[in-house]
Amino acid sequence: MHVLGIDTSCDDTGVAIVSNGRNIRSAHLSSQVELHRPYGGVVPEVASRAHANTLLPLLRQTLKDADLDARDLDGVAVTQGPGLVGCLLVGIAVAKSFAYGCGLPLVGVNHLNAHVYSAIFASEEKPVDHPHVALIVSGGHTAVYLVQSWENMVRLASTRDDAAGEAFDKVANLLNLGYPGGPVIERRAQQWAGDSIPFPRPLTGPTMAFSFSGLKTAVARYIESLPSLSDAEIDRICCSFQAAVAGSLVEKTLMAAQQHRVKTITLTGGVAANRTIRETMAKAARSNGMRLVTPPVSLCTDNGVMVAGLGTILLEKGYRAEWDMDAMP
Ligand code: KG4
Ligand code: ZN
Repeated sequence: MHVLGIDTSCDDTGVAIVSNGRNIRSAHLSSQVELHRPYGGVVPEVASRAHANTLLPLLRQTLKDADLDARDLDGVAVTQGPGLVGCLLVGIAVAKSFAYGCGLPLVGVNHLNAHVYSAIFASEEKPVDHPHVALIVSGGHTAVYLVQSWENMVRLASTRDDAAGEAFDKVANLLNLGYPGGPVIERRAQQWAGDSIPFPRPLTGPTMAFSFSGLKTAVARYIESLPSLSDAEIDRICCSFQAAVAGSLVEKTLMAAQQHRVKTITLTGGVAANRTIRETMAKAARSNGMRLVTPPVSLCTDNGVMVAGLGTILLEKGYRAEWDMDAMP
């Protein structure tokens, strides 16, 4: 079963064809990072226009690289939400027209559920078993789910304020490191091997909810207290901030896994590309007799592969979108 997947939820145009829900036939991604960099964040209208320019050429290239014709496809999956409404509508309009024109079934996919599904693209031989606990950490969301099946994901807790990726982006902004913040903070943190600044661990204790705005404020206060900001001090702040985020993510995810007695944890979403966070989580899982599954770094950030993959499962189960399907931002 060959399914075309389209994701235009934010600032990446992702198109992919996946066979049988797990074999990537071809995948393309057009990043808009350079377009938004001068603004220090994603500008919704600029993003929608860029998707409109890029999507059809990317779709054509994806079919060509898969060596498939539209007639060879079995369905189309598109991100329905959450995301920026203008961006979602570009993907939905193209997916609907393509599916209608080619006589293919169409399915709408929840973007967060698609991130959760991306764990199956991990290099491990062993499949992801159910139920498991899934932590999704991205620019817009930080949440932990109990995944009973790919169709049945129950949200256990989420962030009370900023998402983890948002905190990375805001701290990078405070340090004038540019946008997006995650990759640059990770690079700077790697350069620091000294002592850490004891930033407060957010919402420790019995709650499973996350919170990152207090940590961001603590970083801002610390920066204000310094007479000047040396390169070494920036590395030290990045390393200490990243460790505080990792500590909080690990604590809450393990709490969820222990409460629900599961042995498998998955870590997905843009922030899951962070090697320190992956390693800290893997180590904590191992020492608690659990297994961590993470997709390859290239599939942590937004992509069409995860949408095609989860779309395949939903199409197989009989889910279909109506032709008047709307975005659910
Ligand atoms: O999943 P994603 O591509 O888009 C959303 O659905 O939000 O995640 C983007 C977020 C951004 O906030 C970015 O700073 C963060 O993921 N990110 C990282 C890393 N790479 C991307 N955060 C920490 N470390 C990274 N290496
Ligand atoms: Zn995402």
